[in-house]
This record gives sequence, C-alpha cells and structure tokens, in this order.
Amino acid sequence: MSIILGIESSCDETAAAVCIDGKICSNIIATQTIHQQYGGVIPEAASRLHQQNIVPVVHEALKQAKVRKNDVDVIAYTQGPGLLGALLVGASFAKGLALALNKPLIGINHMQAHIMAHFIDEPKPAFPFLCLTVSGGHTQIVQVNSYFDMQVLGQTTDDAAGEAFDKAAKILGLPYPGGPLIDKYAKLGNPHAFAFPQTNMPALDFSFSGLKTSFLNLVTKQCQQNPDFITANLHDLAASIQQAIIASLINKLKQAIQQTAITQIAIAGGVSANSGLRAAIQQLATEQALEVFIPKFEYCTDNAAMIAIAGHYHHLHHKYSTQSDSSYAKNRL
Ligand code: KG4
Ligand code: ZN
Repeated sequence: MSIILGIESSCDETAAAVCIDGKICSNIIATQTIHQQYGGVIPEAASRLHQQNIVPVVHEALKQAKVRKNDVDVIAYTQGPGLLGALLVGASFAKGLALALNKPLIGINHMQAHIMAHFIDEPKPAFPFLCLTVSGGHTQIVQVNSYFDMQVLGQTTDDAAGEAFDKAAKILGLPYPGGPLIDKYAKLGNPHAFAFPQTNMPALDFSFSGLKTSFLNLVTKQCQQNPDFITANLHDLAASIQQAIIASLINKLKQAIQQTAITQIAIAGGVSANSGLRAAIQQLATEQALEVFIPKFEYCTDNAAMIAIAGHYHHLHHKYSTQSDSSYAKNRL
C-alpha cells in the first residue's frame, strides 16, 4: 500500500489531498475569498492566507482519509509554476514535513498535474492524447506522450483564457474570479449579439489581449451613450465574449488534431469547468469522431487531488525530488 499526501498552494487555493494506491481518499480546499473585492489575486495576501490555512487543511485531509501523518509514504507538492510567495508556503511545508517524517518528496509541475487529473477516475485516456489546458495563468495545447513526457505544442503569447474571462468580468463590474459568473450569465444570452475580432496567431499559439481590448472598447463606448448598457445587455455580453474565447480555443485545437492525427482529446484547468467549452468539445467530438475526456468539476480548478495523483505515478516510477529542488522545465512539462 502506498499513501501519498498532495499539497497545492500555487495561487489562491490552499489544498491537501490523500491518495491511497491511486484512489483519492480526501480532497480538501480552502478557497481564499479575500481577493474577490480586489478584482484579482493579491500575491502577498495569498501567501499570508496559505500560511494560516496549510496546517488545518493538511490535518483535515489526513483526518478524512483516516490516515496518521506517520503513515504517509510520500509527500508531493506543487513546485511551480505559480505565485512565488504562495508556492514557497506549500514547498517549505512539504519539505519540512518530509524531513521530519524522513519520507521522500516529489515536486510536481502544476500544469502537468491539471492534466494528471484525468488519471483520477475512469475512463482514463490512453497515450498519446492532446490536452487543452486552460487556466487563470496558462493556455496550452499539450501532446501527452506518457505520465512524464508532455510536450507543449502551442500556448498563449499574452493573456491566458481564464484571465480573458476574468478581465471581461471585471469590465462588467463582476467580482473575481469572473469566469464562473460569465459562464452563468452566458447561459441566458445570445452568443452572436456582439462580434469580436479573432487574433490569428501563427502555428498553435493563442492571443487573448486583443479580444479583451475590443471588449473594453465596446463596453466603454456603449456606456458613454447609455449608462445602463451593461445591465441591459449583461447576458448577451457574457455569451458573446465567452463564445469568442471558446472559438479561439476550438480553432487551435482543431489545427492541433489535424497536425498530429491524435484522436483522443482532453481538457483541463479551471476554464475546463466552463459549460460552453464543455459543450463545444462534445460537439467537436461528434463532428470528428474523437474520444473526449472532460474532468469532473472538482478536478478542473486548483485542487490537491491532482497533485496527489501525479505524486502517485511519480512514486510508482521511483521519480523523487531532493530537498534542494526548485526548478521546473518550461516547454516540456
Ligand atoms: O486552474 P485554475 O483554478 O487556477 C490556475 O491555475 O490559474 O483556474 C482558474 C481560472 C480563473 O481564471 C477562473 O475564472 C476560471 O479558471 N474559471 C472559469 C470557470 N471556472 C473557473 N472560466 C470560465 N468558466 C468557468 N465556469
Ligand atoms: Zn491551476
């Protein structure tokens, strides 16, 4: 039997999970709501709250899994990418605990972990598959060749898809994180009410900053003529910006499918919780006879179950980190 404790603290969720023999037995998340009022994550506040939350969150994860800390075989933690001060809390805690318990340590790449969330439950994708990983900080198309060989085929050159959702929401006066609210309002709106130009990036890369600017310009201009413009058009604005972001993602994903001839497709990361994106991927699957893998909602946004499952596969293959590890590869996950 192998018991993995996973710890995640890359952004604004302090999370811990226990994985026993590849099965997630607890998955605790403390979401930091303080950032809502600021329209984005305040790094220093995030680090301080991780410090407050990490001990109770880890205790609760162990308690729910009915595991004593001395029974833990391996400690897996998010090594990066993420906010440095936030990462340091999880990394230092994990390193300290590993030293105290004399247990091995595994540093996990956060973006790799989002993809590894597909190995928590059945059905699991077979290698190779393509994963569209869309979060608040990243937008990548990844060719996943094995648990450890993940190649980034294309990525955003500016804003991430989640950032585009959050910035559009902020323009509409909605609190952070705005992605889920755009999703909610979009359900009641017309996605073709407003048109936004798509930025045509070379190869498999993305760009969302132009979309954000054209959204801002439209809203600013219309609000000058009609101060109630946002309230009167909230649903249509949400549906239209969501549809523009999804169109850009699906367009590049189609190109990647054509280029690689890979027919197993997955989505991962916070934006994979978006109902419009989930529907668009299902539709693409039907049109092109693809097999698609969509994570459960609790494994889309940041969580430690994905860190623990990634740790499980590292442990199976005897891939451990050292106490002095701090780096992660940029283009190969
Ligand atoms: O993966 P994640 O939890 O954190 C990062 O690694 O960045 O992703 C957070 C992002 C935020 O930008 C949030 O607005 C977005 O995921 N998000 C959504 C939805 N749920 C979360 N975006 C659109 N629709 C959603 N339902
Ligand atoms: Zn994430």
